[in-house]
Amino acid sequence: MKRKAHEIMATEIVGVPLENPFVLASAPPTASISMIERALQQGWAGVVTKTIVPDEMEIHDVSPRFNAIRSGRSKHNLVGFENIELTSRRPVSYWEQGIGMLRRIFPDKVLIASIMGDRNRSAWQDLAVKMEACGAQALELNFSCPHGMPEKGGGASIGQHPDITREITQWVKEVTSIPVIVKLTPNVTDIAVIAKAAVAGGADALAAINTVESLTGIDLETLTPLPAVKGFSTFGGYSGPAVKPIGLRAVAQICKAVEVPVMGMGGIAKWSDAVEYLAVGACSVQVCTEVMLRGFDIITGLLKNTRHYLTTHQRTVAGVIGKALERITTYEALDKKYFMIPVINGETCIGCGACFVACRDGGYQSIIKTGKTVACDVNLCDGCSLCSHVCPVGAITMEELPAGTKL
Ligand SMILES: Cc1cc2nc3c(=O)[nH]c(=O)nc-3n(C[C@H](O)[C@H](O)[C@H](O)COP(=O)(O)O)c2cc1C
Repeated sequence: MKRKAHEIMATEIVGVPLENPFVLASAPPTASISMIERALQQGWAGVVTKTIVPDEMEIHDVSPRFNAIRSGRSKHNLVGFENIELTSRRPVSYWEQGIGMLRRIFPDKVLIASIMGDRNRSAWQDLAVKMEACGAQALELNFSCPHGMPEKGGGASIGQHPDITREITQWVKEVTSIPVIVKLTPNVTDIAVIAKAAVAGGADALAAINTVESLTGIDLETLTPLPAVKGFSTFGGYSGPAVKPIGLRAVAQICKAVEVPVMGMGGIAKWSDAVEYLAVGACSVQVCTEVMLRGFDIITGLLKNTRHYLTTHQRTVAGVIGKALERITTYEALDKKYFMIPVINGETCIGCGACFVACRDGGYQSIIKTGKTVACDVNLCDGCSLCSHVCPVGAITMEELPAGTKL
């Protein structure tokens, strides 16, 4: 049976329907109403506003506030991005008016207000009440910004403590009836502990991850840490493709620990990254850095390619959610008898010797090199797979050793 596009792509967050799983994360792309308006017109299912703070909280951004890590020398190969940016600098009244207006123009899109206060109950409750009143369909509590805001008593200084996480979630739940999503920081020893605390405080859903605390580099001419603000820097938040493995791990751990829906994010640059987040249990995803680098209209490719993958595999977004989670188990439960060996394709091998060197100095000395030809001595091979990862042309595949083979 042929499914309609919306049946394939639709999902939800605590009963709020999303036409597709792609939501813009709280960040510069959602820092103004006009930007949000453009993004929603282009096909994003919803947005989380840049984090809104009480007007009394003074927000001074520094310049510059970004640094990038690239793989190789290409200007385009950005693998990681550091920022030391703070929250929204716009007054609460700006957001109240703007969210109300957006609600009227886009009745089918989802508007989530990201809010943050310090340890003051009335500051959190006041923001929550105002955002619900102006039309936000959910609140995202930013307990997770790793820089600047913790020094003011907000951000990760909340999300690094289970008791404070639970208490502030409760404060917000006391005064609101819309879903409350708690956004978690990966900068903790065990994210499951914080996830459980948020749920104990009444969180309806969770979002993860915020940025990973980082120091991305030193200028070796001046020995100044980067990004350098008049010669000084501070620890920042790392995002982009490099953090995807941390985000996937965090989302999987959260989904195993609690029952509430999770919005997954961290390093989503391609449609396949998003599907991976769904597979480990996220019900929808958020994107920030890739949009900052390439613009709102990446949504066109994300939607087209996700739909193509789902259609060709006869799957739906709802059907993918959590399917890989079932296969994440303990080390103890893994089959120790399963054994794979490298199979080297002599036609595509370029004889560079990368596998030989890696196996000699980082493995079990089972790759033998004769002139430009390499082969594997399976009697020495330990099945680790290192050779297949260093081959620059993909000439080595790992294949299961047939049961009963005697070495
Ligand atoms: C420049 C910048 C500003 C951000 N500002 C916020 C913010 O105000 N509130 C928030 O919850 N997260 C903020 N984030 C974190 C993102 O929402 C997101 O959690 C993180 O960047 C990981 O996703 P990504 O790899 O797709 O960027 C910011 C990220 C960046 C890069």
